[in-house]
Amino acid sequence: MNAFIQGLPKVELHLHIEGSLEPELLFKLAQRNTLSLPYSSPEELRKAYEFDDLQSFLDIYYQGANALQTEQDFFDLTWAYLERCHRDNVIHTEVFFDPQTHTDRGIPFDVVINGIDRALQQGHSELGISSQLIMCFLRHLSEEAAIATLEAALPFKDKIIGVGLDSSEQGHPPEKFARVFKMAQQEGFLTVAHAGEEGPAQNIVDSIEMLGISRIDHGVRCVESDALMRELIESQMPLTVCPLSNIKLKVFDKMEDHNIVELLRKGLAVTINSDDPAYFGGYMTDNFLAVSDAHKMSHREIAQFTLNAINASFIDEALKEEYKNKVEEYLRTAV
Ligand code: ADE
Ligand code: ZN
Repeated sequence: MNAFIQGLPKVELHLHIEGSLEPELLFKLAQRNTLSLPYSSPEELRKAYEFDDLQSFLDIYYQGANALQTEQDFFDLTWAYLERCHRDNVIHTEVFFDPQTHTDRGIPFDVVINGIDRALQQGHSELGISSQLIMCFLRHLSEEAAIATLEAALPFKDKIIGVGLDSSEQGHPPEKFARVFKMAQQEGFLTVAHAGEEGPAQNIVDSIEMLGISRIDHGVRCVESDALMRELIESQMPLTVCPLSNIKLKVFDKMEDHNIVELLRKGLAVTINSDDPAYFGGYMTDNFLAVSDAHKMSHREIAQFTLNAINASFIDEALKEEYKNKVEEYLRTAV
């Protein structure tokens, strides 16, 4: 099963680029930018990655992002992630970035996006990985700040396919961002939102109704509402589930308790993603392996996660067909 999962073509739809900053690169960037860190080595930093919940993770994650300062830093960050994708047979990725985490520290928007975009272009030409970029609003900040961020993004519209919503779910419900999401849609952006990770099933319902989303990020608390479950099956609204993240942030106690396979078997359009792999102990292959170690599944069921991700992606129909054929061909030939 390990070889099957390693070789399976994969599509990632839920990856925060700042969450792919490995301790080794973080130390290198801190040195390059003459910043001092409260840890003596990457190993010591990695040991601090023990979290009680989403907020305890976010505090460390935003601290880590301070090491990113120049366009080259954002390039190096993104390139390291793409090289990791290549090893995991990731053929397409849709990458989140959090501009406010950087612009609030005085890093210009163009520095952030140009560094990330240059690496994504190179990832396509040199590694054959297609990609899209999604800009997230930080939900713990104000609506006005989100609107200002949307305005800052307009000159870079050609590089950004959609907008998302991340950070602290508790206390920052979807309706806080209904107006800015409407404005983003009027500008032609697609929309997605984190919902039902730590927050209740109602946040999923409200994100669908108030934010016009094309996908739900996480969404695992949908099981708390039978009506919502029926709707998700009927509409085939995709869920970008992040198994290792959910264990690290204690959404589930252990992988055996995770509901992703139950959701798949009930017919929901669930996908597997890595979220913040540098912090949660694994990239795409690691996430697939962790799920399949805890839940017995057939090759067809495992491949269904990729097929669902292809259908849920923001690529054109021709490329979707090409990628689905690649997966079917792999299923035919893999032993
Ligand atoms: N930002 C980065 N990772 C996140 C997550 N899992 N939930 C909400 N915001 C995030
Ligand atoms: Zn996330």
